[in-house]
Amino acid sequence: MTRPQSPPLDGWTAIVLAAGRGTRMRSRLPKVLHPVAGRPMMLHVCDTVRAAGIERIVVVTADADGEVAEAVRAQVPGAAVAPQGEPLGTGHAALAARVAAGDASHLLILNADLPLITERTVRELTQRHLQEHAVLTFLTAYLEDPTGYGRVRRQNGRIHGIVEESDADAVTRGQPEVNAGLYAAEAEWLWPVLADLEPSPRGEVYLTDAIARAVDHPQGAEAYQVVESSEVQQVNTRVELARAEQIMRERIRRRVMLDGVTLVDPATTYIDAGVAIGPDTTLLPGVHLLGSTTVGGGCRIGPSAVVRDSTIGDGCQVGMSTLEGSELAERVTVGPYCHLRPGTRIEADVHLGNYVEVKASRVGARTRVGHFSYIGDADVGADVNIGAGTVTANYDGATKHHTTIGDRAFIGSDSVLIAPVELGADARTGAGTIVTRDVPASARVVGVPGRIREPGEGV
Ligand code: UD1
Ligand code: CA
Repeated sequence: MTRPQSPPLDGWTAIVLAAGRGTRMRSRLPKVLHPVAGRPMMLHVCDTVRAAGIERIVVVTADADGEVAEAVRAQVPGAAVAPQGEPLGTGHAALAARVAAGDASHLLILNADLPLITERTVRELTQRHLQEHAVLTFLTAYLEDPTGYGRVRRQNGRIHGIVEESDADAVTRGQPEVNAGLYAAEAEWLWPVLADLEPSPRGEVYLTDAIARAVDHPQGAEAYQVVESSEVQQVNTRVELARAEQIMRERIRRRVMLDGVTLVDPATTYIDAGVAIGPDTTLLPGVHLLGSTTVGGGCRIGPSAVVRDSTIGDGCQVGMSTLEGSELAERVTVGPYCHLRPGTRIEADVHLGNYVEVKASRVGARTRVGHFSYIGDADVGADVNIGAGTVTANYDGATKHHTTIGDRAFIGSDSVLIAPVELGADARTGAGTIVTRDVPASARVVGVPGRIREPGEGV
């Protein structure tokens, strides 16, 4: 998905803290790789940082070559990875980025479990930081239920520091202003402060303790309150993961509707973060558009379709089907009950009727496969008619073989094409034919095993 880019924020480096154990998720997968709307939460954070105009990103990971580091290298081009080793707290994690952050003058530090933070909030926090000349500016929110967050402690309205929930007394816990986990800081001031912080009673160095230090500095600490509090939904547990998922999905649905897509039942329509949809497309209930799917304009999808990593051209109709790694050109009709598997390319104006499975094949323009057929490892030309029950027998128990069907061929119902086999243009097969050998252009083949009939010979 291409997003509008903000003008670059010069001199800034973003540090994404992604090295925590995430034990509260009770998962073998690192917390920050759990997907929200189909994309690992840490990558949402990196996307947002880049969209806000910060090009230099350092992701603090547990190891130099673990799963998180791999994901950063594969999916965040140009980002640096800084291993933290032992996860000794967020302050310790931020300090681990010091060498990789180089000579940055300003730092944006973000917890990687904040997938909902927007580009606008990053921009506003950084602007506020620069305007107020604070040494540290952090994002706050007022939450109806502040459970799980560090609370902002103020005295006579002035910021005093952050108290982590586990260290807070009952009065502080009842306080609704929370620390979101997003900070802008002056690098020159922050690095020595981080190195100097004492571990908490639980043995962790809290990044949040830097706020009390900033308060003591003549330039002080600044708090910026987020406009939309749902943005600060963090993910420590799977309960919070489900909440973040819901907020993100709602946001995506709203965006596509405002872009001209009709969602007949938004609540049962699932659109991943990387999906693009053209105007005047209608999504019926139970549609899942997943991964890197693109849908053109004027399409009608569903009810109940699952489309993953596929491209659908303008004016297509897809009913109750599953598409994976497939490409449809314009005005293709699919379903109900089709399964298009990876490597499938369907050209313009093709009709695939009920119960058709296609795998790793091209189906040429205007070809019709009306009823229960299997087309695998095949190249099917244009204007072909594939009769009901046709099967490309592509597997001999050891190897997959290829089938070629020429333009305008007519394949009779219940034909079985034993691959490797090639049928020329305008070839015809009779109903129930088992085709075991190549069929020349315009020839007719019938029977079991299939025999070529000369022109004029009866069936
Ligand atoms: C943190 C804040 C808390 C804030 C909350 C909201 C601290 C001490 N507390 O708490 O004030 O309200 O976020 O978002 O910062 N991480 C590391 N290395 C570590 C520990 C954590 O990289 O040693 C990473 C985690 O992967 C995570 C982020 O830092 O992405 C925050 O850690 P987490 O354990 O979620 O902090 P919270 O307890 O939620
Ligand atoms: Ca957290």
